[in-house]
Parts: sequence; C-alpha cells; structure tokens
Amino acid sequence: MKHMTKAPTTAELNITREQMIRLLNEDLAGEYQAIIAYTVYSQVLKGAAYTDIARELEAHAGEELQHALKLAKQIDYLGGMPGVTPKPVITSSDPVTMLRADLENERETVGRYRERIRQAEAMGEFALSETLRAIIVQEQEHEIDLAAALGIDVPLPKTPAANNDRSPLKNGHTARRSAPATAKTNSP
Ligand SMILES: [Fe+2]
Ligand SMILES: [Fe+2]
Repeated sequence: MKHMTKAPTTAELNITREQMIRLLNEDLAGEYQAIIAYTVYSQVLKGAAYTDIARELEAHAGEELQHALKLAKQIDYLGGMPGVTPKPVITSSDPVTMLRADLENERETVGRYRERIRQAEAMGEFALSETLRAIIVQEQEHEIDLAAALGIDVPLPKTPAANNDRSPLKNGHTARRSAPATAKTNSP
C-alpha cells in the first residue's frame, strides 16, 4: 500500500509546536548524517570517472553543515533543544553504493522538507518555511548531481508517513532510540 500521491489533509498539517520541534530534530539528524557521508565519501571515492562528483560531494558537505546550522537555529527559536545524534551512515568502498546511499537519503530529505514547509505555513511560521524552502532548493540540486553521476533520472521524492504521531522514518532508517551503530546496505 503506497501513499506516494496522497495529498496531506488539513488535520495532518496542523501540528503542535512540540511536534514541529521533534520533526525538525529528526531533520537535523538527517543533516548530520549528510555532513558525515559527504565528508567521508568525497575523500574515498576513487577513479577517474568519479573525480568531478567527488569534488561536488565535498561542496555538498559544506552546504549540509549550513542546513544543520539553520535547523538548529529554528529549533532553538521554537524553544527546543537541537539534537546531537546523526542518523546512521552507510560505509562502503564501492562508489556506486556510496552515491546510491546519498541519493536515497536526499530523496527522503526532499520528501520530508516538502511536508515540513506545508506544516510550517499552516502554523504561520513563515520564517521557518522560508528557511526550509532555501534548503530544499539545495537538496534538489544535490539529487541532480548524484543522479547525473549515476547516469539515472532524479527519482520521485519519498513521501513521509502521514501520521504525525508515528515516526516518519522508515525503510531501514530506525528511530534514534534504537539506531544501530552501522546500517546494512541493501543489495542493488
Ligand atoms: Fe541538507
Ligand atoms: Fe543534501
């Protein structure tokens, strides 16, 4: 059963400040994951075919740090405490596995921010939605860079679970309390 095309209802968009803080902290954990992945992958990607994308991944690392700083600022503004734990990062020596992991994470991130922007607008938090809009522009550029390096089309964004009382994390991404030290890679 898929919810890929299901539009969010007003009830799903109307979340509390506390729920927004919790969701933004999950987003922040994803930004930390992205900083780590791009820092490491940009340095270990080997081979003439990957020289250009390795340089781009290094630039992505810096942009993800800026996203993390912006989210932490917004969480603090809302009265929350920014979290300190990244989502798990997959390690591999295979360039395609690394690039696919990055692309899958970007795809999930774009889906999450699409929802978050709507929720921020519904709350009347327009500075937050503007901040998220600026971030999502860069996430989509990251997707384009990765898809181009893999020679594939940019995949559709992953729609987070609609129920706000449940963690929107899924498909191998576990909630913080049970997060394993390492994540298994799915066979391509
Ligand atoms: Fe980011
Ligand atoms: Fe990104």
